[in-house]
Amino acid sequence: MNDEANPVGQALPPAFFDQALAFIQGRTTLRPSIAVVLGSGLGAFADVLSEQVEIPYSEIPGWPGSTAVGHAGKLVLGRLGELEVAVMAGRAHLYEGYSPAQVTYGVRVLGRLGVRSMVLTNAAGGIDRSLQRGGLVLISDHIDLQGSNPLAGPNDEALGPRFPDMSDAYSRAFREKAQQVAADLCIPLSEGVYAAMLGPNYETPAEIRFLRTIGADIVGMSTAAEAIVANHMGMRVLGISCVTNMAAGILPQKIDHQEVLQTAGMARDTLLKFLKALLPKLAEAEG
Ligand code: HPA
Repeated sequence: MNDEANPVGQALPPAFFDQALAFIQGRTTLRPSIAVVLGSGLGAFADVLSEQVEIPYSEIPGWPGSTAVGHAGKLVLGRLGELEVAVMAGRAHLYEGYSPAQVTYGVRVLGRLGVRSMVLTNAAGGIDRSLQRGGLVLISDHIDLQGSNPLAGPNDEALGPRFPDMSDAYSRAFREKAQQVAADLCIPLSEGVYAAMLGPNYETPAEIRFLRTIGADIVGMSTAAEAIVANHMGMRVLGISCVTNMAAGILPQKIDHQEVLQTAGMARDTLLKFLKALLPKLAEAEG
């Protein structure tokens, strides 16, 4: 039903949002103010929520399914202590053939549901040579090289401005909280600039040299469009990358998707512990 309702590459009629919202609100009385998007191989966090309501993306009107290996494809609402939380376990990517509107559909629906803070996680390649495979990096900023923009087209002024500011796209206040929590838990956490590529091929070594030259520290195939839409809607964003591999040309070996998933699996417990401690602090910061 979903494929018919929301074919790959098509723009979405606004009525979809109302239907999606009504559908989710009909399934749960939870009204989360904070949401987490879990990237490749990082899906475990959804399991720690209590009073879970699990909704497969395929059931939500207009919601694109995730075809990527390592992505679960469900929305989970639940509680982390007192806090009401929404988790997107899996996301749609541009490289799957989805339009920018489809890739950001979940963020837009969650924004309408009342989410004010978004934590975007992903798997990324390490460009900065000091990074370690399996390590976590806070995204301080991004360089969007995906070649499309989810805000292109008519602007809905009710959602946000035509020309949104992006100078604090990855909230400094949230990053400070994240650094404090990481220090308390003895989790090493660096910060870096995320280069967003269309994919699906990994980069060439020349592309990685280019990305390093223009100021990128990590590289991936997601997150930027979601961060743009979240900022447009006035949400605060935190980005966390798991360095699943060193980027192309840095090590004398090829990049393999299995390695990426395996490393994400290794980092999953650390990320889980981190998110459990971090989310309440972010909610406090949001006030
Ligand atoms: N490049 C792009 N995206 C990625 C990588 C990479 O090396 N690793 C995980 N996602």
